[in-house]
This record gives sequence, structure tokens and C-alpha cells, in this order.
Amino acid sequence: MWASFFRKKSIDKIISDQLDLEKLEGYSMVRNLGVRDLTFMGVAAIIGASIFSAIGQASANGGPAVSMLFVFTALACMFTAFCYARFAATVPISGSAYTYAYTSLGEIVAWILGWNLLLEYAISNVAVAISWSKYFVDLLEGLGIHVPEFLTMDYLSAKRAFVAAQEAFQQGLTLSDLTINVREGFLAYTSAPVILGWHFVANMPALLITIAITYLVYIGIRETKNMNNVLVVLKLAVIAIVIGVGAFYVQVENWTPFAPNGISGVLKSVAAVCFAYIGFDSISTTAEECKNPQRDIPKAMMWALIICTVLYVLVTLVLTGIVPSDQLAGIEDPLAFMFMKVNLPGVAGVVAASAVIALTSALLVYQLGQPRIWMTMSRDGLLPKAFSRIHPKYRTPSFSTIMTGVLVGVPALFANLEEVINLSSIGTLFAFVLVCGGVLILDLDPENQKKSKFKIPYLNAGYWVGICLLIALYLSFPNLDAAFSWFSGIFTGESKADHVIMGGFFLIWATLSVFSVRNKLSLIPVLGLLVNLYLMTQMGAMNWERFLYWCLAGILIYFGYSYRKSKLHI
Ligand code: ALA
Repeated sequence: MWASFFRKKSIDKIISDQLDLEKLEGYSMVRNLGVRDLTFMGVAAIIGASIFSAIGQASANGGPAVSMLFVFTALACMFTAFCYARFAATVPISGSAYTYAYTSLGEIVAWILGWNLLLEYAISNVAVAISWSKYFVDLLEGLGIHVPEFLTMDYLSAKRAFVAAQEAFQQGLTLSDLTINVREGFLAYTSAPVILGWHFVANMPALLITIAITYLVYIGIRETKNMNNVLVVLKLAVIAIVIGVGAFYVQVENWTPFAPNGISGVLKSVAAVCFAYIGFDSISTTAEECKNPQRDIPKAMMWALIICTVLYVLVTLVLTGIVPSDQLAGIEDPLAFMFMKVNLPGVAGVVAASAVIALTSALLVYQLGQPRIWMTMSRDGLLPKAFSRIHPKYRTPSFSTIMTGVLVGVPALFANLEEVINLSSIGTLFAFVLVCGGVLILDLDPENQKKSKFKIPYLNAGYWVGICLLIALYLSFPNLDAAFSWFSGIFTGESKADHVIMGGFFLIWATLSVFSVRNKLSLIPVLGLLVNLYLMTQMGAMNWERFLYWCLAGILIYFGYSYRKSKLHI
């Protein structure tokens, strides 16, 4: 019984399915991508809502020190990138982490991973659509076109702003004393039409751009190498302007204190920072179109991560150097906002216009990727046949594309940026944990190691994992009293859930320490697994709860439908 949940798909079967798929799509696989194209593709997918929007709230939480969190998170991504490259070399088809998991970890894990990729692709695109909307509205405003506030934001943000404004009024403040986002939210809430007692506040531009992009994807627009490269250059140019022009307006005293809300403030931004790197893994899906995938994919992933990390660090420093971080709370267009702050509306306009184009390209990447994953899952029988239906004229996965549009467009209308980013990040980190874990399991069989054309540089994890655990435990609990009082927090107190999550993390670390010695595990995937898991532990109990419900829903669908309909059913 248990074995059937972990049944695996053979690599030969995956390759033959993939070839059928490519034929159906009228897609000829030409090996013409080199390191530069792949790096550009990575940058196209990586740079999006985070740097254009979420960086505002992240900097408000953690201050300039968030720049260091970008570096730490980049390390986690680099370890994970090795694992992706290892899989891409073993299963050399244009699949995704879902396909990799099907060959190494078995069907149920592949399903859960595919289910979480929904968070990485579709749900992350909700955030990109919200970010697009904010910059688009700015742009219109710059052109003298005013869109009523209640049509430009989500209900939750407006309601929160309304409550905050009420409190401020009680303290004798007036509308003009409020911060810009509270003022806009207040206006949105109070000017919205009331339907059955409910204030109709909805993000219309986010819905409309999703419909437009879905239509383009439906009729078969593809990212072409040249178009993609042009858009990436544009993205890099706008960020270069932000850094280059912004640097002249930095007031270094704004960097002190570097972490105004301490380490916990910085860690509050984990979700936004992890979100910023989502997309580097998309490079691995091009294995079949690369000139030399084994060599170029890992290189391109590393380059894309390095380029983006440098840009993220510099943008964070410039932003927090210009605008004191506490003034960035709730600001969803921080890069335009900071230029308005220093009285450069022209630059703010250029940034807003370029951001609209740059974010459109990011939307396209994920809106194209999601249907493709669903199509593969449907062809395996795990999703209904409709998900792999190909449009007779446009040769695109028509139903999957429309479903992706609905799944992105409807939440984009009502969802709050921060909530979406939180859910998307925790799901993506979990997918990364599974990929790193998958490599460790794959490599338990020495035959698999011999077969793979890409080898992760091997360092024996050995005793190091356990030694680091002891050091971490010592630093966290310098004496027995501290350990005891922390342990009792698992059963009592307000932060029980946080203690359970952290306890679970230490337990997994301890288990890995044993296996590292016993099986001479490779250090890089072990580090990838632990660092990604650690980042997950910092997402807070509320996000964990939502994430667990999400996984539970996925498991119910698996047992209710996918397990029975799987093509591997025995
Ligand atoms: N990394 C992508 C972004 O920041 C998802 O929008």
C-alpha cells in the first residue's frame, strides 16, 4: 500500500512522454541557448514584484540590514541551484521540480511538490500583478489620469488603513497628517460603493493585466530569446537608474541604526526576500534547449543569482539611505516613491513606466510556466484530462491557460500583497527543501551518482552537520535554565506554535547529523535543505497554518482523485 504512494516514474517514460508533448505543441527543440541567454532568462524571471514593491515593507520591518538578508538567502538559493542542476542533468528534459521528484521521491511527493509549485508560479504572479497595478496607476497619475482609489487596491489594505486613520483622527490628527498609504486606503474605503454593507474595494488594473496576459499566452505568444533579452536589458537599466541616480541622494545617517528593529525585524522580511529569488529555478526547465545543459545551467543559475543579489543589496541600501525605513511601511511602489521624496518626479515617472514594462515581462514568464506544469501533471493522470488539452489552432494548453488566468486574476482583485508573498514564499521554500532532499535520496544509490553527467562538488558532510548543530544549540541556549524555559514554551505561552516549528527544525537537523555521518552525505544539498528549512521557520505561525491547510487540501485531492487516476496505477 505505502509503496504505491511512492511509485516512481522511470526516466525513459518521462522522456518519451515529453517528446510526445513537444510534438503536440509543435515545438521543435533547438539547442541554441548558451550561458548568457540562460542567465538573462533567470534575471527575467527573478526580478519582479519584490524589488519593485515588497522591498518597501521589507525595509520598513528590518531597515538597511535587510540587505544582509538578501546575501544570506542568496546562499540558500545557490545550494539549491546545485541540486536543481543535478536533477536537470539526470532527467535532461524540459521538466520542472515536479518531474524530478517523480523519478526520485515517488508520486505522492511529486504531487505535493507540483501542488506547491502552484504557489511558486500562479500565486506569486498574483503579487506581480498587484505590483504592476500600483506602478501603472502611478504612471496614469503622472499623465494626469486619476483612477478612483477604491479601484486600485485590495479590500484588506483599505480596511486596515481605514482603522488606522480612525485611530489617528481620535488622537487629533487630520487627513493630511496621515502617511500616503493610510490616506489612500482611507479614501478607497470611504469612497467605495457599499454593496450589502460591504465596501467594494478591488484592484481592477491587476485583474485587467492578468486577463490581457492570459489572452496573449492563450493565443500562443512565446518568450523569444531576443525579446526576452531586450526586456531584461530594460529591467537592468531601470534598476541601474534607481541605483545610479539614487546614490546621489543617499543620506548615510539614515543607515544608522542599521537594524532599527533588531534581528527579529530583519527576519520579519524573510518572506519578501525569499520571494525576490523565486524564479531562478526556471532556468532548469530549459535543459533540452541548451547547447550544453550540464555545464551551462549551473553556471547561468549562479550568474543570475549573483547579479540579482548585487542589485538587491544596492537597491535596499539606496532606498533606505534616501527614505528613513519607518516611512516605507505599506508603500507598494517604493522605487517611484523615493524619487518623489527627493523631488524628482521626472525620474519617478521613468521608473514607473519602465517598471510597468518590466513587470509585464515577469507576469508572462509565470503565466506561461504554470499551464505547462499542469499539463505534465495531467498527462501523468494526476489532474483531469482537460488540463492537457491543446488548442487545435493555437497549439497551446488552452484549459490550463484559462485556469491559470482565473487563479491569478481573481485573487489579484482582492488579495493583499504581503499575504500573497508570504504564502508563495513558504510554498516555494518547501519545494526547494524537497529538491535538496531529493538529491540526497537519489545519491544514496551510487549507481545514480555514476549516471549523472553533473556532479555537485562533493564535500563529506560527516560530523560537520552535528558539530554545527551543537554550536547552534549552545548559542541559542547557553545554559540549562534557558533550554528548559524554551522547552516549556512548547506547551505553554503565546508562542507555542513558533516553539514547535523551531523544535521540529532542530529535530530534522539532528536526524540529518546522524545520516550525514552514516551515509557520508554530500554537504551542499544538506546545507541547502537546512538553510531553506530555517528560512521557513522564520515565516511565523500564521503562515505555517495557512501553508499546512494548503498542503492538506493538496493531499485530499491526491487521495480523492490523483491516486486513483494516475497512469502509474497498479
Ligand atoms: N522573484 C519574483 C519577484 O520578485 C517572483 O516578483
